[in-house]
Amino acid sequence: MTQAQYNQGAANGVENRRDDFPVLKQDINGHSIVYLDSAASAQQPTAVMQTVAEYQQHNHANVHRGVHTLSHRATDAYEGAREKIQGFINAASRSEIVLTSGTTESINLVAQSYCRPRFGPGDKILISHLEHHSNIVPWQLLCEQTGAELAVAPIDDFGQLDLDRFTSLLDETVRFIAIAHVSNALGTIIPIKDIIAQARQMSIPVLVDGAQGVPHMSINVQDLDCDFYAFSGHKMFAPTGVGVLYGRESLLEEMPPYQGGGDMILEVSFDGTTYNELPYKFEAGTPNISGVIGLGAAVDYLQAVGMSNIARYEHDLLLYLTEQLQKIDGIRLIGTAESKASVQSFMLDDIHPHDLGTILDHQGIAIRTGHHCAMPVMDYFGVPGTARASLAIYNNTADVDRLAAGLVKAKQIFS
Ligand SMILES: Cc1ncc(COP(=O)(O)O)c(C=O)c1O
Repeated sequence: MTQAQYNQGAANGVENRRDDFPVLKQDINGHSIVYLDSAASAQQPTAVMQTVAEYQQHNHANVHRGVHTLSHRATDAYEGAREKIQGFINAASRSEIVLTSGTTESINLVAQSYCRPRFGPGDKILISHLEHHSNIVPWQLLCEQTGAELAVAPIDDFGQLDLDRFTSLLDETVRFIAIAHVSNALGTIIPIKDIIAQARQMSIPVLVDGAQGVPHMSINVQDLDCDFYAFSGHKMFAPTGVGVLYGRESLLEEMPPYQGGGDMILEVSFDGTTYNELPYKFEAGTPNISGVIGLGAAVDYLQAVGMSNIARYEHDLLLYLTEQLQKIDGIRLIGTAESKASVQSFMLDDIHPHDLGTILDHQGIAIRTGHHCAMPVMDYFGVPGTARASLAIYNNTADVDRLAAGLVKAKQIFS
C-alpha cells in the first residue's frame, strides 16, 4: 500500500481526530510527540477529561447512599455510564455489567467467585500460549487453591493460535476456557466466536480477555455468546483504574460475592448478611466514580467516531506500518498472523529493545519495549523482549514515517 492509497482509504471519518487529544500537542525531547504505546494505555480525548472535570467540579458525592442532590447527580451519572457500557457491548441487561478496577480485577473475580467453588483435582482450565500475565496468573493461583490444572493451547510461528490443537485439547476434563480476544504482545486476533461455539456444544463456560479487543472493534457479547468478557477503561480512552466484567446473568446470579463491604449488601447483622442484587453484589466499597463516568464519556466518544470506522482506519494504518518496517534492513517482525489488530512487535538487528526505545524517545517517539506482560510469548520466539508499536485513531502515516526514520537512525548509531 502506498501512502497515497493509504490516505485515500483513511478518508472514512476518523481523520482529524488527533486534535481531540491534548497530550499530543507537545514536544518531547525537542520533537513533536509520536505516541505509539496505546496498547499499554491510550490517551484521553478532551471530551472525557471535560466530563470528569464537570463531575468533580459540580457533582461529586458518594453514589447510591445519599438523599441529597449531589448524591443523586453522582448516582445518575454513574448508573448512566453503566447503561452506556451495556449498550456499547450489547449486553442483555444492566445487571450483567459489573464495574471493576480493570481487566485484571475482572478476571480474578471470575477465577475466585465462579471457578474456585466449583473446580478441583482432575479439572482443567484451558488458556492459550498468547495470554497476558493477567490471564495466566489468576488461573495458576486458582490451580494452587483447588488442585485443578492449567492446560495451554499452542501457537505457531506466525503467532496464531493453532485451532486444531486447541480443539484436540477440548475434552470432558476442561471445565473452563479463558482466552484473549487480541494478543497484546503480537496483535493476533483470536477467532473467539469459533472457540465459543465449540465450547458451548460441550457446555464449557468461556471468559474472553477483551482488554485489546474492545478498543479496536465492535463487540457484541450476545452475538459472541461468551459467558464473561473483561476489559479496561484506560485502553479505550477512559481514565485508569476502571474496567468492566460482563457476565451472563444466570452465571452471575449463582456466584458468591468476591469481596465484602459497603453497597454489596441488603442487610447485615451479626447473625448473617444478605447480599445486594446484581450487579451491586460484586461492587463492594466506594467505586471509582469519576473513572466510571469518564468511561461512559469514552464510550460516547468511540460511538461517535464509529467502531467500524476505527477498525478500518487502524487496519489500514497497521498495514502501512508493517510495510514501512519491512523496508528496514535488519528488522525481524514478531507476530505476523493473518488477522491482526493495531500492534506490531519487532527486533532490529541485535539492538536490545530497551536501547531502541531509549533512542526513539530521544527523538520524541514513544514505543513499548520488554516482555509486555507476556513472558511465555517471548519464550516461544526465543527473545527476552521486543520493541512494540501500537496504534490508535490519533496516529497517522506521518507517525509511522517518523518511527521508520527513528529506527534507521538507531541502526546508524549502533553500526
Ligand atoms: C490482553 C491484556 N489483558 C489484560 C491486561 C491487563 O489490563 P489492566 O492492567 O488494565 O488490568 C492487559 C493490559 O495490558 C492486556 O493487554
